[in-house]
Amino acid sequence: MSPQLAPSILAADFANLQKEVEMLNASAADYIHVDVMDGIFVPNISFGIPVTEAIHRHATKPLDVHLMIVNPELYLEAFVKAGASILTVHVEACTHLHRTLQEIKRLGARAGVALNPHTPIESLSEVLEEVDLVCVMSVNPGFGGQKFIEHSYSKVANLKEMILKKGSNAQIEVDGGVTDQNAKGLVEAGADILVAGSFVFNAPNPIATIASLKAIQA
Ligand code: DX5
Ligand code: ZN
Repeated sequence: MSPQLAPSILAADFANLQKEVEMLNASAADYIHVDVMDGIFVPNISFGIPVTEAIHRHATKPLDVHLMIVNPELYLEAFVKAGASILTVHVEACTHLHRTLQEIKRLGARAGVALNPHTPIESLSEVLEEVDLVCVMSVNPGFGGQKFIEHSYSKVANLKEMILKKGSNAQIEVDGGVTDQNAKGLVEAGADILVAGSFVFNAPNPIATIASLKAIQA
């Protein structure tokens, strides 16, 4: 199986956002991963609704919006209106996760849940049937360009087993520190979607780099 690819626009040149989105449109990427950070849930601030909307105006690929914010339930509708096809919230940021997932789907987006590195997959056991995508964080969220946490392989493999056992259709996404060094192992462990920020945007030829990650067979 080959992975789907979701390059993270966090690593793009924000002064040339339209050009960067057009590069992704021309590439083999399946999604554009949009990292929203509020400076409270994570120790960094990226951008929010108007920038997501601006990306969507130029994108021909669906937006995979990753909300690293507290109280995400307050902003679901705004992000769907801004163009999110997938809307991912953090389990650690949701008191009423089940309700939040149902609301994302009611708004017409696919519902994703992200797990910080310390959060066990079992935290999803009672909501898995509501989930379209589980985002396994393979770095602590907040910054691009961090080192991949090796424990993520076994976390992905265990999550895959849990998804199969429960008869869930949830896809597994891996986010953080993805490179050509770990991508194949992640797909072998059960990852369906790979997010890659700095590895793609710092490459001399991002389009070729995206194609090479997409070509992985496991
Ligand atoms: C981290 C973000 C990631 C990040 C990935 O908080 O959620 O999506 O942009 O960037 P790299 O691939 O550079 O780790
Ligand atoms: Zn992300």
